[in-house]
Amino acid sequence: MGQLQGKVAIITGAGSGFGEGIAKLFAKEGAQVVIADINKKAADRVAGEIGSVALSLQADVSSRADIDAMVKHTLEAFGGLDIVVNNAAITHKNQPMLDVDEEMFDRMFAVNVKSIYHMSQAVIPHMRQQKRGVILNIGSTAGIRPRPGLSWYNASKGAVNVLSKSMAVELGPDNIRVNAICPVMGVTGMFELFMGLPDTPENRAKFSSTIPLGRFCQPSDVAAAALYLASDAAEFITGVEFPVDGGRTI
Ligand SMILES: NC(=O)c1ccc[n+]([C@@H]2O[C@H](COP(=O)([O-])OP(=O)(O)OC[C@H]3O[C@@H](n4cnc5c(N)ncnc54)[C@H](O)[C@@H]3O)[C@@H](O)[C@H]2O)c1
Repeated sequence: MGQLQGKVAIITGAGSGFGEGIAKLFAKEGAQVVIADINKKAADRVAGEIGSVALSLQADVSSRADIDAMVKHTLEAFGGLDIVVNNAAITHKNQPMLDVDEEMFDRMFAVNVKSIYHMSQAVIPHMRQQKRGVILNIGSTAGIRPRPGLSWYNASKGAVNVLSKSMAVELGPDNIRVNAICPVMGVTGMFELFMGLPDTPENRAKFSSTIPLGRFCQPSDVAAAALYLASDAAEFITGVEFPVDGGRTI
């Protein structure tokens, strides 16, 4: 039997990268999964590759209306909701902090941070009622050991990391576990923006050489951590900032 047999999970931003990896592993372990992404084509592709246990939904996580519709649709389609992975995020390009304009700042905080406000409003009443739930927020090593040139993104991920701990203490009595997963750089849609440099072997080496285990984070690394934290094996684990970072934050 799979580790998530009978569970229903929403994974935001699951149309690519880490979210795609999480959704595919969760489905393999028996969960029914909602692939929610602003990019409908990407969500459809991932759901199609998973099969009938996956539902593809277009949603902008910065929109309360989209989040409410996503949760309603999930409950109607699958009859429950056990796990939410707040994974969708964007970044500004690696650049001097004063060059990031206000519009980018506002959009990034709406997608990376306010989305968790909206999602919490939508799912916590349901989780409280059933007296259990798991929320995983994809934070980052950026919120623990920041790199230069990503100041505002780092701040958004610092907010995600600390919010996860704050939610854990507040929601513990309701048996709702909340953990942050903190990956190091991975070769996903965000990679070139994080480097702020062309994706060449030399530029990759500059960044991977700062990771003790000597490589970038893969979707399978984040998915394995998410599976553990979402599963009953982690029933006593809440409020951790779980680095998936090859030792980068040491
Ligand atoms: N890649 C890295 O180096 C890295 C490192 C640490 C943390 N993270 C975090 O991992 C998570 C996943 O990122 P990724 O690296 O897989 O990047 P990615 O760009 O490959 O995936 C992000 C997905 O989110 C979707 N998305 C963007 N805005 C959205 C919105 N408003 N509503 C719904 N969906 C939206 C995109 O369409 C995309 O499919 C993010 O929270 C990111 O901050 C990434």
